[in-house]
Amino acid sequence: MTIKIIMDTDPGIDDAAAITMAINDDNIDLKLITTVAGNVTVDKTTKNALKLVRFFNSDIPVAAGAKQPLIKPFEDAARIHGESGMPGYDFPEDLPKPMNKSAVEALRDAIMASDEKITLVPTGSYTNIALLFSEYPEVKDNIERIVAMGGSLGMGNMTSAAEFNVFTDPHAARIVYNSGVPIVMVGLDITMKALLTHESIEKLPTLNETGKMLHDIIIHDGDNSDSGIAMHDVNTIFYLLHPEAITTKEMWVDVQTEGPAMGETVGDIRGAYHDGKTNASVCVDIDAAAFNKWFIEEVTNMSK
Ligand code: BDR
Ligand code: CA
Repeated sequence: MTIKIIMDTDPGIDDAAAITMAINDDNIDLKLITTVAGNVTVDKTTKNALKLVRFFNSDIPVAAGAKQPLIKPFEDAARIHGESGMPGYDFPEDLPKPMNKSAVEALRDAIMASDEKITLVPTGSYTNIALLFSEYPEVKDNIERIVAMGGSLGMGNMTSAAEFNVFTDPHAARIVYNSGVPIVMVGLDITMKALLTHESIEKLPTLNETGKMLHDIIIHDGDNSDSGIAMHDVNTIFYLLHPEAITTKEMWVDVQTEGPAMGETVGDIRGAYHDGKTNASVCVDIDAAAFNKWFIEEVTNMSK
């Protein structure tokens, strides 16, 4: 059975790797890519999504979304992802055009037109999805769940408390967590455990052109340590395909929108505040070796 998904994304190096997996894995039916300002401006994230679609000769539509968060001023992460957001590889220049409608309209149309419920996979800030839920709440009935990269029960990577995607637009994240749609929080608690090892990264260019492309952009990722490079967004796709490799815990997650903890995802781990009610499955542990093995196998099986 294929899983019908829409990716809402800000490529971004790890976003690019996640999109690569989603386009190529036969168990995933990627219906639409929408873009948002995040790692770099939305003009650049849209261009990067189009570069990937063109690289794979895919006809998946791309719609450009929010230029800035709902309330908070926009701050990019070019220090991690480079000025272009996807540096290091010469993609073809003759790019397809984005859709002639906004991300919110494209999301609404694709979700409402689908004969099966859609899984939303946000790997940037959640601005487009918050706007979608506010303008077209009826779409919620045709959404299976949201599998979202973002948040952390522990440390942040932007401030001590906040992870980048949630920090970028905490007001949008609060709307999404309170939307009533089931959400899987794929946060730093697992993405910092499942680093792509340098051994895996060195294997990539020996596999095929896709492996070379991924290698050439991944080595520019600023989220780099001696143990490997965090492929945060790719964990969403790994979770969809291999939930058995990830441990989740049900809890209520609130989002702080002000003060020094702005952008923190507060998991009610002890069930102290919400009467036993939960709104999220939070990913708390991952088999990092299985993640690396899967990553290499996926690329090995790609035809380009
Ligand atoms: C998240 O922030 C972005 O820089 C990455 O693409 C990922 O979505 C990790 O905190
Ligand atoms: Ca991202």
